[in-house]
Amino acid sequence: MGNTAERMVDIDVTDPKTGKRTITLPLMESSMGPSVIDVRRLYVDHGVFTYDPGFTSTASCDSAITFINGEEGVLLHRGYTIGELATKSTYLDVCYLLMEGELPTKAQQVEFRNEIVHHTMLHEQLSHFYRGFRRDAHPMAIMVAVVGALSAFYHDSLDINDPEQRQLASYRLIAKMPTIAAMAYKYSIGQPFVYPKNELGYAENLLHMMFSVPSEDYKANPIMVRALERILILHADHEQNASTSTVRLASSSQANPFACIAAGIASLWGPAHGGANEAVLSMLKEIGTKDRIPEYLAKARDKNDPFRLMGFGHRVYKNVDPRAAVLKENAHEVLDSLGKTTPLLELAKELERIALEDPYFRERKLFPNVDFYSGIILQAMEIPVSMFTVLFAVARTVGWVAQWKEMSSDPTTKIGRPRQLYTGQKPRKFVEINDR
Ligand code: SDX
Repeated sequence: MGNTAERMVDIDVTDPKTGKRTITLPLMESSMGPSVIDVRRLYVDHGVFTYDPGFTSTASCDSAITFINGEEGVLLHRGYTIGELATKSTYLDVCYLLMEGELPTKAQQVEFRNEIVHHTMLHEQLSHFYRGFRRDAHPMAIMVAVVGALSAFYHDSLDINDPEQRQLASYRLIAKMPTIAAMAYKYSIGQPFVYPKNELGYAENLLHMMFSVPSEDYKANPIMVRALERILILHADHEQNASTSTVRLASSSQANPFACIAAGIASLWGPAHGGANEAVLSMLKEIGTKDRIPEYLAKARDKNDPFRLMGFGHRVYKNVDPRAAVLKENAHEVLDSLGKTTPLLELAKELERIALEDPYFRERKLFPNVDFYSGIILQAMEIPVSMFTVLFAVARTVGWVAQWKEMSSDPTTKIGRPRQLYTGQKPRKFVEINDR
């Protein structure tokens, strides 16, 4: 809980309904970043609501997991910079950090890994669930359905008031997401499901389940393993973004963890959020050649055109997205080491160069975000485009779970129930149909 300091703020209100008055509210101090005005009693004591539909100025909770400074392009997980974590840590260690608050010791690392690897398999009955989908179903549609269905199989980890069941549900979700994702991919290409191999690392196991076939040996390219591991770390958590806020709101009604994570997956799917990495590739393919970049930048600037430059802009980052900086460097490393330079990467670099010189983008501080480069790397790694957001969901599951666990273990948590600015009809008499 934030520090409710003695400091108060006075807000002078001139309301046509109630005249002039001064509203005094407590100020809560943060350990980093803005303080917050505590408006929890604003309606009860003063009869007014705040208005912030996109939550651009609203703290929906207090949290100790992730800190973002959008002006300076800073992203910390439990105090560690994303740059250091992405280059020096492993995804499972970052999972431990997000969940438990500290980087694991060697003994904790071994114990945590053992917990995770012993939950990588899916209940065999669930494999039949996949067969109800068309082969061309989007893997995100399958993932939303299968994750929600986990609550029909794992009844011993549904009680959110039991810390042991919360921990077990967390382990199961982190462990099973790669398996669920890989099965969705295998199903879409008509190949048999591949079981997890617990001796492999997290990212390596995911590639194994996606790309190995029963008829021959498979060894994931270590460069791809490292690149995927880094992408997973960079997407693990990101404060109170749309999908995390969806998970928090869903779990505030005490819904089971699997249903809440399925809600987060659904929110992430949107092209304005996690679906942007897939949308970046579609956009680059539509632009096609460098000479068409000005035409698309004009579309992006045109308020009458719904086209947005996918992979650019961010609600919070009004400077560089630190994850994009790591990925940009990673893109070159991956492509050089795979002996590839895709025309799409050249097009992407030219698009970035021209966009960043364009006054419309500069004035609005629309810089490349995490999705701009992740799509290009995943494409170079020959990950199918339809799996891009699925991999984002795999990575972000630990963030959703850590935030859900933080919220569920807070006894002061209340059900989320926003109010509204009502702009509808005033009371009126019912009109019989013959009189309408
Ligand atoms: C993710 O929240 C998170 O943390 C998300 C995420 C995470 O890790 O969870 O970081 C992951 O979702 C990254 C964002 C991926 N989405 C995209 O790349 C889609 C393209 N981007 C836009 O849709 C947009 O930038 C958003 C949705 C990301 C942010 O939308 P906002 O907050 O409404 O944008 P804004 O208020 O900063 O926009 C300011 C202006 C507006 O124009 P004006 O009204 O001032 O004239 O910039 C314009 C916007 O129309 N604008 C764009 C634009 N993004 C904003 N114009 C063209 N192209 C764009 N991409």
